[in-house]
Amino acid sequence: MRGIRNILIGTMTLGLATLFTGCGDQNQREIIRISHNQAADHPTNIGLMAFEKYIEGKLGSKYDVQIFPNELLGSQVNTVELTQTGAINFTVASNAILESFDDVYQVFNLPYLFSSPQHYHAVMDNETIIEPIFKSTAKSGFEAVAWLDAGTRNFYTVNKPINSPEDLKGMKIRVQQSASNIRMMQLLGGSATPMGFGEVYTALQQGVIDGAENNELALTSNKHGEVCKYYSYDMHQMVPDIVIGNERFLSNLTPEEREIFDQGFKIISQVQREAWEDSVETAKAQAKEMNVQFLYPDVSAFKEKVLPLHQEVIEANPKLKPIYEKIQEVGKNLGGEDK
Ligand code: GCU
Repeated sequence: MRGIRNILIGTMTLGLATLFTGCGDQNQREIIRISHNQAADHPTNIGLMAFEKYIEGKLGSKYDVQIFPNELLGSQVNTVELTQTGAINFTVASNAILESFDDVYQVFNLPYLFSSPQHYHAVMDNETIIEPIFKSTAKSGFEAVAWLDAGTRNFYTVNKPINSPEDLKGMKIRVQQSASNIRMMQLLGGSATPMGFGEVYTALQQGVIDGAENNELALTSNKHGEVCKYYSYDMHQMVPDIVIGNERFLSNLTPEEREIFDQGFKIISQVQREAWEDSVETAKAQAKEMNVQFLYPDVSAFKEKVLPLHQEVIEANPKLKPIYEKIQEVGKNLGGEDK
């Protein structure tokens, strides 16, 4: 028995050592490790697979791109840390998580920051706003290289429909591990329970929490709709996912390689976005088959409760003011509603 155990431990140690020590095959190709927390059929993974194909098509004799889905390398908080240290090269992190690594990212966590998906896309695609932010975190050991659409976040609950903020009173709602989200829940009157994404299903099933908040794919791709039967479109946030890369890895690329990688990052966004557009409708249809009911409460009641957070965050972190103003300006130019 003991012998077998030792062999197993030895094999596992060898596996982990290979995982985290650069070169993997006889040609000494450098392994590029990319982590994320979604399933293999999720738009995020589809975008990353297109990146793998593109990079290996151009630089396959030098690099072997490996994608690790489903939190295989850990939760987002862990994998941001692994990316900072260079143990892995890239991870996909929700913007919510990133604010605790660099507070410039607080701005995109503000509830009702964007007045519509058009406003959201116009801002995130606006290089003069986004580039300086993406490049500003070198001191934190990473650079953001692409953003991914993660739709609109809404509340969903096991057995109590949310029709107004009052319904959230006393309910334990899972939020991402971010101070902004905890504060948002406080303002809405619910009880914020921060945890990693991978823990949410079991927490819902075991009654540790009464609900959560996310886009529609959480119901299907992550199966939360098996437990939660009410999904309320209060539309509180559009929080992008951000692909971040290890600063040292990126700055060691030759200018020619960097150009190819930059093209690859654009491909991740394009392919992910195309896949995303259909996936929300598909998820909704599947969730209805799982007997999830979709509710359309009065959004203004939720908005009123949390808008003070804009002022609060900007006063505490004044460097966000010019960014916030530019975001508002983009909205006005689109003819979106004023805040
Ligand atoms: C979305 C988002 C993920 C995030 C998750 C969460 O699914 O795309 O990046 O981790 O929400 O709520 O944690």
